[in-house]
Amino acid sequence: MKGFFVVFEGIDGAGKTTQARLLAQALVQRGHPVVLTREPGGTPVGEKIRSLLLDPVLAGLTPLAEALLYAGARAELVASTIRPALAGGRVVISDRFVDSSLAYQGYGRCLDLKELEQLNALATGGLVPDLTVLLDMPAAEALARLTGRADRIEQERLDFFDRVRWGYRQLVKRAPQRYLVLDGRLGCRELHRQILKAVEERF
Ligand SMILES: Nc1ncnc2c1ncn2[C@@H]1O[C@H](COP(=O)(O)OP(=O)(O)O)[C@@H](O)[C@H]1O
Ligand SMILES: [Mg+2]
Repeated sequence: MKGFFVVFEGIDGAGKTTQARLLAQALVQRGHPVVLTREPGGTPVGEKIRSLLLDPVLAGLTPLAEALLYAGARAELVASTIRPALAGGRVVISDRFVDSSLAYQGYGRCLDLKELEQLNALATGGLVPDLTVLLDMPAAEALARLTGRADRIEQERLDFFDRVRWGYRQLVKRAPQRYLVLDGRLGCRELHRQILKAVEERF
């Protein structure tokens, strides 16, 4: 089998990490070689950039610098992990990818979408996921699920996450065939069932 690239997207608390793990487990059980990764992070450099980006102390980070840091971590992840894994025929599952930057830095922080797309095309060499699962739900409900200390992004106001959610939905409209959009309020098991079915259909 040739490599297959699945990405989970959605606002904080929508269930991405939960579903990425469940999908990885199910595919491993079925004998597929799986690489599970996350953004920002997934590499030694990326995890250092992640801790910068999520540090509440850096509350005043400017949007452009933020976008560049995400893109830097992404460039490293694509070159060192994702591309080699896909070339080796593996299934790569990533908890967030380029659409997170378009939704958060574009729609959330109001940076120019075209410029963000150019920056990210440079960072990824134009790599596009085979399937993106968008877990969509109202921001207030998703944020209410989060426990523990809020990171720098999670500390944003509700209207920020409303814009991000709306942004994701705009991204889907541009290329609906690349997405599986599911209601994040469904039960974990039901979401997992639908995601696994969609992935297996596309293999
Ligand atoms: N479908 C679901 N229904 C109810 N709660 C969920 C569901 N999926 C995840 N959760 C819970 O919501 C919280 C956030 O889930 P998580 O997967 O970490 O979201 P994300 O990675 O998108 O921020 C966790 O406590 C998780 O157990
Ligand atoms: Mg998560």
